[in-house]
Amino acid sequence: VSIIGSGNVAQHLAKAFENSSDVELLQVYSRNKSDLQHLPFAAKVTDNPNGLHAADLYVIAVSDSAIRSVAESLPFEGRLVVHTSGSVALSELDAKNRRGVLYPLQTFSKKRKIDFGQVPLCLETEDPNDSVLLEKAARAISGSIFSMDSQQRKAMHVAAVFASNFTNHLYALAADLCEKYSVPFEILQPLIIETASKISELPPLQAQTGPALRNDLPTIDAHLAMLPDDNFKMIYKTLTQSIQQWQKATKN
Ligand SMILES: NC(=O)c1ccc[n+]([C@@H]2O[C@H](COP(=O)([O-])OP(=O)(O)OC[C@H]3O[C@@H](n4cnc5c(N)ncnc54)[C@H](OP(=O)(O)O)[C@@H]3O)[C@@H](O)[C@H]2O)c1
Repeated sequence: VSIIGSGNVAQHLAKAFENSSDVELLQVYSRNKSDLQHLPFAAKVTDNPNGLHAADLYVIAVSDSAIRSVAESLPFEGRLVVHTSGSVALSELDAKNRRGVLYPLQTFSKKRKIDFGQVPLCLETEDPNDSVLLEKAARAISGSIFSMDSQQRKAMHVAAVFASNFTNHLYALAADLCEKYSVPFEILQPLIIETASKISELPPLQAQTGPALRNDLPTIDAHLAMLPDDNFKMIYKTLTQSIQQWQKATKN
């Protein structure tokens, strides 16, 4: 397997393949070699696209907007090339190569360690014959493999935005509120961890608590009065309404 890119996903993927005994990390291509010099696979890094050797699988892990041009610029044809994006269609890859997707459904930052074996990998190949090869590579680095088409992968990606990106933004708002009222944000951490971990045992709908669920109007009004600006109030009202509508809809 060869990796193309040097960012968050490229580095985690390259490390995972480098550590795998079932698949060989052949090369990592980056237009900027210096970003990867500190990593254990530094000797396999090239900044020359024409120096890419024949691999069974190429994983393009570059910014969504660059996937098309990077795929077009590959100096070979007929090989299996996949990208790692949740929202980019398989068809963005140049048809001169066999096309697929290996979307790791996790949030990656270069400086955060991750147990790649637990990362769900969402796979898609244009040619069903390529699914065996892609699955073999995926199983070499993760125990959590799912096949899905581009539409399903996009739906997963939207769901991930709700479950992770929006939740994280709510943490940021909570931290801001804590700062405004001079209370430490750290006090919320056990609550955040328990909220996330209990949905592995309870469906989210059953795990819901709070004033919106109880339709506790005096508390809701008191909260709204304490919020510092219209953006806070708008988000509070929208989420309160959404919780109440969901509860009603699912009771009917
Ligand atoms: N981060 C996540 O949590 C996450 C999770 C799942 C999937 N993904 C997907 O994984 C892919 C990579 O995301 P990332 O977070 O790893 O991105 P990133 O850290 O921002 O890194 C982007 C990489 O793309 C390269 N690049 C950008 N424009 C390029 C161009 N025109 N030509 C060649 N290389 C170019 C950058 O190279 P330079 O450093 O030289 O600019 C860098 O190596 C994206 O498709 C993303 O949707 C990300």
